[in-house]
Amino acid sequence: MKKILVTGGLGFIGSHTVVELQNEGFEVVIIDDLSNSSIDVLDGIEAITNQKPIFERLDLKNKLDVEQFFQNHNDISGVIHFAASKAVGESVEKPLWYYENNLNTLIYILKEVTRLNASNFIFSSSCTVYGQAEELPITENSPVKLAESPYGNTKQIGEEIIKDTCKVVPHMNAIALRYFNPIGAHSSAKIGELPIGVPQNLVPFITQTAAGLRDCLSVFGDDYPTPDGTCVRDYIHVVDLAKAHVVALQRLIDGKNDSNYETFNLGTGVGSSVLEVIQSFEKVSGLPLNYKIAPRREGDVNSAYAHTEKANTILGWKTQSTLDEAMLSAWNWEKNIRNL
Ligand code: WQD
Repeated sequence: MKKILVTGGLGFIGSHTVVELQNEGFEVVIIDDLSNSSIDVLDGIEAITNQKPIFERLDLKNKLDVEQFFQNHNDISGVIHFAASKAVGESVEKPLWYYENNLNTLIYILKEVTRLNASNFIFSSSCTVYGQAEELPITENSPVKLAESPYGNTKQIGEEIIKDTCKVVPHMNAIALRYFNPIGAHSSAKIGELPIGVPQNLVPFITQTAAGLRDCLSVFGDDYPTPDGTCVRDYIHVVDLAKAHVVALQRLIDGKNDSNYETFNLGTGVGSSVLEVIQSFEKVSGLPLNYKIAPRREGDVNSAYAHTEKANTILGWKTQSTLDEAMLSAWNWEKNIRNL
């Protein structure tokens, strides 16, 4: 059984990826510092797969602890690196924290990965690197724009660090996966998105409003150059996204990669506006959502949705779930954790 390290494996995308890795017969070791996740997620994963992953609580900013971990686990066949802070607004207020937490940790992990016999590395990147793309849908060759936030900058710099490492470490193989907007939850409703405090992202704010935790959803602007004036995004079901990580990892393990550094956009290829997401929620839940139009949010791009051909044809992966299915799964998860 091949052993895979998943850093940030108790987080939203990480936990769903652990489930899919176990479903494919991998042994999983999770490192998480629990700064933005709960140890209860381990039980959720086990409840789904009947396999409890190995878990080590570790702060990846501690270089010696990272080195010790890899000495104890030198039989790892691949690493999927999710662990990072990801709140755009917070990164503007705390840039040094973001550069330390997202980049120092990446460097310490990469140093150890280059020492493994199987140096296979999957990096959690983001469509944020494109900023407001000139052309839509966005391809992997769309220019990487000047980052709009330190968070986005850490993804861009992170990709460059990995690319430069792969240039001088020929036995290292890496794939950067550029996510569009992950939403939804596992069909069992035993794992899902668990934002701490007031949700920054649209879908958890919607489900928390419907659950009565929030009074009213603010729609940040309806005067954008889009069909209905609200921003357009590519909302991808988190389980589809998790499965893409397993496919990408298997590509490296099987040596099928075309070069030792590749990037793939992960999206549905369909853009949905904020109002369309709200309509989808109301349709699948049967509940009216309380929302109002509010001023624009700083840093929002008008539209972003993926060109999916490269992932579909070269990676051999395609999303399966619709927006409605993703929204229903998000609502089922919210109802489960609130005992509604
Ligand atoms: C989506 C749309 C908002 C909340 C961010 C990160 C990105 C990735 C996904 C990590 C926008 C609108 C939102 C609300 C609203 N994260 N909105 N009211 O900003 O596209 O992407 O999360 O990798 O890197 O940048 O996602 O869900 O915050 O916003 O109207 O209460 O919903 O203006 O148009 P975003 P989001």
